[in-house]
Amino acid sequence: MANNVFIRLLFLIITSSGFLFHEIIKLGSCQGDHQRGCIDTEKVALLKFKQGVTDPSGRLSSWVGDNCCKWRGVVCNNRSGHVIKLKLRYLDGDGTEGELGGKISPALLDLKYLNYLDLSMNNFGGIPIPEFIGSLEKLRYLNLSGASFETLDLGFNDLGGFLPNSLGKLSNVKSLWLWDNSFVGSIPSTIGNLSYLEELYLSDNPMNGTIPETLGGLSKLVAIELSENPLTGVVTEAHFSNLTSLKEFSNYRVTPRVSLVFNISPEWIPPFKLSLLRIRSCQMGPKFPAWLRNQTELTSVVLSNAGISDTIPEWFWRLDLHLNELDIGSNNLGGRVPNSMKFLPGATVDLEENNFQGPLPLWSSNVMRLNLYDNFFSGPIPQEFGERMSMLTDLDLSWNALNGTIPLSFGKLTNLLTLVISNNHLSGGIPEFWNGLPYLYVLDMNNNNLSGELPSSMGSLRFVRFLMISNNHLSGEIPSALQNCTAIHTLDLGGNRFSGNVPAWIGERMPNLLILRLRSNLFHGSIPSQLCTLSSLHIMDLGENNLSGFIPSCVGNLSGMASEIDSQRYEGELMVWRKGREDLYKSILYLVNSVDLSNNNLSGEVPEGVTNLSRLGTLNLSINHLIGKIPDKIGSLQGLETLDLSRNQLSGVIPPGMASLTSLNHLNLSYNNLSGRIPTGNQLQTLDDPSIYENNPALCGPPTTAKCPGDDEPPKPRSGDSEEDENENGDGFEMTWFYVSMGPGFAVGFWGVCGTLIVKNSWRHAYFRLVYDVKEWLLMVISLNVARLRRKLNLGSI
Ligand SMILES: *[C@@H]1O[C@H](CO)[C@@H](O)[C@H](O)[C@H]1NC(C)=O
Ligand SMILES: *[C@@H]1O[C@H](CO)[C@@H](O)[C@H](O)[C@H]1NC(C)=O
Ligand SMILES: *[C@@H]1O[C@H](CO)[C@@H](O)[C@H](O)[C@H]1NC(C)=O
Ligand SMILES: *[C@@H]1O[C@H](CO)[C@@H](O)[C@H](O)[C@H]1NC(C)=O
Ligand SMILES: *[C@@H]1O[C@H](CO)[C@@H](O)[C@H](O)[C@H]1NC(C)=O
Ligand SMILES: *[C@@H]1O[C@H](CO)[C@@H](O)[C@H](O)[C@H]1NC(C)=O
Ligand SMILES: *[C@@H]1O[C@H](CO)[C@@H](O)[C@H](O)[C@H]1NC(C)=O
Ligand SMILES: *[C@@H]1O[C@H](CO)[C@@H](O)[C@H](O)[C@H]1NC(C)=O
Ligand SMILES: *[C@@H]1O[C@H](CO)[C@@H](O)[C@H](O)[C@H]1NC(C)=O
Ligand SMILES: *[C@@H]1O[C@H](CO)[C@@H](O)[C@H](O)[C@H]1NC(C)=O
Ligand SMILES: *[C@@H]1O[C@H](CO)[C@@H](O)[C@H](O)[C@H]1NC(C)=O
Ligand SMILES: *[C@@H]1O[C@H](CO)[C@@H](O)[C@H](O)[C@H]1NC(C)=O
Repeated sequence: MANNVFIRLLFLIITSSGFLFHEIIKLGSCQGDHQRGCIDTEKVALLKFKQGVTDPSGRLSSWVGDNCCKWRGVVCNNRSGHVIKLKLRYLDGDGTEGELGGKISPALLDLKYLNYLDLSMNNFGGIPIPEFIGSLEKLRYLNLSGASFETLDLGFNDLGGFLPNSLGKLSNVKSLWLWDNSFVGSIPSTIGNLSYLEELYLSDNPMNGTIPETLGGLSKLVAIELSENPLTGVVTEAHFSNLTSLKEFSNYRVTPRVSLVFNISPEWIPPFKLSLLRIRSCQMGPKFPAWLRNQTELTSVVLSNAGISDTIPEWFWRLDLHLNELDIGSNNLGGRVPNSMKFLPGATVDLEENNFQGPLPLWSSNVMRLNLYDNFFSGPIPQEFGERMSMLTDLDLSWNALNGTIPLSFGKLTNLLTLVISNNHLSGGIPEFWNGLPYLYVLDMNNNNLSGELPSSMGSLRFVRFLMISNNHLSGEIPSALQNCTAIHTLDLGGNRFSGNVPAWIGERMPNLLILRLRSNLFHGSIPSQLCTLSSLHIMDLGENNLSGFIPSCVGNLSGMASEIDSQRYEGELMVWRKGREDLYKSILYLVNSVDLSNNNLSGEVPEGVTNLSRLGTLNLSINHLIGKIPDKIGSLQGLETLDLSRNQLSGVIPPGMASLTSLNHLNLSYNNLSGRIPTGNQLQTLDDPSIYENNPALCGPPTTAKCPGDDEPPKPRSGDSEEDENENGDGFEMTWFYVSMGPGFAVGFWGVCGTLIVKNSWRHAYFRLVYDVKEWLLMVISLNVARLRRKLNLGSI
């Protein structure tokens, strides 16, 4: 069971109205017993409770003797002597530590005046929340946070849904915090009895049932937080009919799967004025919700992946909202975006994946994060952009139709952490303003029409981790100033016209390099042996250049290709040649270990050391002038999926160990001088396309038609479709991994500067808020979501 994963926190705080508090005091004084000790029935109840729980650290060892009011954690009313509080959280205020476990005895019900029960952070090993807790009618504080209560117990099921109907008995409750548990089913309709309820926090549960209309009667309700539940059904006006106090409504789901539908009439006038509306992955459209017309107090509007195919109505822009969050991404919204929007300091604006068009909007300097990814914005980036939006920390303008040059005013964006302007039509040179962006962490200018040389001021990007400028028309040598960019993880300069030698200092000055891609340039000279010291490297792509000389014999020192990659490390996106085609890889990059030196002018032998790279997935040395034998120990590359040695002058026999490569599904040995019998067995048996071996005149045996000396039978060609199957299976496997790994990686996007800062999906927003407070230059980025990734992956080679 995934309970341990899902039930990490159980947070139930129930606070009843102050009215009741006075009542308790009053009841207490009616008893009139002055300064009396402990009441016997309550002492017995506490002892029963003590019996039920396990207490390895002896926290309850003081629970002996007559006066239970003196026992640790027990608080009595001074006058009546009734036990009113049990304070037994794991880490007590006085520093007492020790975990309670076991069972919670229903004898607690005898503590009729108990108004405060704190069992938080203990470990009740997954027992259900005792149902009788609903009967502790005087309770106004109940904290079971982190106490490992489990609720996936059918015995706990009580007429409808796994949240007990008895919840409705807690009629004085003001706050109900039930987030991050394992509640399933529906919200019980008895919730409508909690007429004092002000806060309802149910986020992060697997509740897949419906929301009851009785919720709509809770006129004191201020905040409803239902995010990250797979709730189903239809939400109508009735669910909100009397919510006159409502300020915050949140139902945000990171997953793109839509299960909850809002069916609200465009004429409806809500009884509330919301300040926060956060809805993601619920069906709201196809029309832009007209009931927002009267919502003039909104500061946060999230309507993303909400199935809205519309233009944003004029009245919305005229509401004169001052927003700190606007996220209407992943819809089909079109039209132009006015410059008139107003934002609060630190605002996030996300319009990604829509059909917005026209010029880029220019908003106030308060905007801190701007994501316009994947729209049809066109024309130049306004020259004054950097001055007008000077507080930006994260800017994503990628996948639009922007042209013109990179404005010099970008150099004024001194807080910028991420700059993503890839996949536009930007042209001209790369300006020399980089010393104005000292904290830049991600720079992605891939797929534009930039020309000229790399400016040496890029050397001031001391923290840059992702430097991606592939597929432009850049030329010249890599400036030696880049030696200062020692934090680089991904260096992708592929698809340009860079020339000169591959700098040896890449090996010396960029020790964190995971990905080095210089493919399709005009680099010449030999491969510097200093690259062998890059012990984290797991993709080295130097293909399609004019490199000569030997493959460094130290290539076996690339220990990153022989060890497990930290699966939670994000390395950006990259075009990778693999299995005979170029694909865009993203979060599964960590599974790709690749050495690609193809299409150069390399000579000499394939170094034996290459067989040390035990986790290598792709080895492509095709189209060079390599001589000698295929290394005997090639069979030790157990992760090898792609091996392309074609179009060299390799000779000798194919090592029999090749047959032990069980993952191999793309093999090309054609156009060499290999000889002897083609080994058979295992995976090789399925790689039966004769073209794999063609133009090796001295090779014989299946799948070629050449007979080996001594063979009598003419060989039968094997069936041709199994390779295809294998490839497909291979891809299926990859996609599985892709989706698995996407969870941790992609809701967040790129991350933290200070090492591997991983953020759980559901924490994303908390994290972003945190960052607003923290003056550190922690990296944030523009969230990337599943649809975007899938789309990009499907693009294949660009
Ligand atoms: C009860 O007594 C304790 C100590 O004797 C004191 O600190 C506390 O304030 C008293 N509470 C009330 C409600 O009188
Ligand atoms: C509930 O208990 C947790 C853990 O002991 C604590 O951090 C939290 O502040 C408590 N909640 C309230 C509202 O007191
Ligand atoms: C609670 O609500 C249900 C219907 O939702 C109702 O039948 C019941 O009488 C209510 N109980 C109390 C104590 O108000
Ligand atoms: C909710 O989940 C449970 C258990 O996974 C399943 O049996 C039930 O059919 C689901 N209900 C809905 C409405 O999807
Ligand atoms: C809403 O409030 C009105 C008047 O207070 C009441 O008549 C009506 O029954 C309430 N509706 C719901 C669904 O609670
Ligand atoms: C809502 O807006 C309409 C017109 O857009 C207006 O007539 C009505 O008075 C407003 N209602 C409230 C409660 O503000
Ligand atoms: C930019 O694109 C527009 C059309 O969208 C075109 O009219 C204009 O000439 C282009 N400008 C440049 C500098 O390419
Ligand atoms: C690319 O830029 C060059 C000059 O820098 C220009 O002549 C050419 O038209 C541009 N190509 C496109 C497709 O914009
Ligand atoms: C590179 O670093 C050195 C020493 O920190 C510094 O003097 C130099 O100016 C830097 N170069 C660039 C281009 O930032
Ligand atoms: C490749 O490099 C060699 C020197 O190593 C040089 O002579 C040749 O012109 C280069 N070819 C191209 C296409 O740049
Ligand atoms: C490769 O590793 C070996 C052993 O660790 C070491 O002696 C050698 O210097 C390394 N070579 C290079 C070029 O780093
Ligand atoms: C390959 O390299 C040799 C020197 O190693 C050079 O003479 C030759 O011109 C190069 N070939 C090409 C096509 O660049």
